[in-house]
Amino acid sequence: MSNADQLKKAAAEAALQYVEDDMIVGVGTGSTANHFIDLLAGMKARIEGTVASSEVSAERLRKHGIPVMDLNSAGQLPLYVDGADEATEHLHLIKGGGGALTREKIVAAASEKFVCIADESKLVGMLGAFPLPVEVIPMARSFVAREILKMGGQPELRQGFTTDNGNLILDIHNLHIANPVELEGQLNQIAGVVTVGIFARRPADVLILSGKDGVRTLR
Ligand code: 5RP
Repeated sequence: MSNADQLKKAAAEAALQYVEDDMIVGVGTGSTANHFIDLLAGMKARIEGTVASSEVSAERLRKHGIPVMDLNSAGQLPLYVDGADEATEHLHLIKGGGGALTREKIVAAASEKFVCIADESKLVGMLGAFPLPVEVIPMARSFVAREILKMGGQPELRQGFTTDNGNLILDIHNLHIANPVELEGQLNQIAGVVTVGIFARRPADVLILSGKDGVRTLR
């Protein structure tokens, strides 16, 4: 396993302490979340089930024999564990590098505790070096892109990619996100935007960061 992978696994391992007996656990998407899924398999008999934030994660969970439930029948979740593309010490995040931001935001919103797992390279002083994913309704693609240009961002269509919800992703370059809460709200107001990859209005509650000196937790 590569060094980067070992760090992701260490963060995922530290998140297991938040999993309690009989829980329905919200499960994220991406390579760090994949480690969490694989580790969760070792304690699958103790949990009631999971709600997945993507089809890809649902498939991986099922392959392990972990029950995957519909959020509508699961109700409020006690815990959601997922990775991030960038995170600040205020626990504001950029997510959606894997294109699963809409379901991730829904599961995060429906969860009492959102534990974000990442290696330390994801910790930044200010969000925005990672191109911000925005999920858009296909017919609004050009309109949303023009609105974002007016705001100073450089939108780029993610080529050959359709989300689990049948929509498109614009990755926005050159944004310096000094006020993530405000920008999340502004982008959300553009007609045709489904979800903005800034997770600031509902930030993580716990950020587990793994580095060469071990694992640390920010709250
Ligand atoms: C997927 C996400 C992922 O959490 C994010 O892209 C981080 O992925 P990885 O753990 O592979 O670095 O938001 O939509």
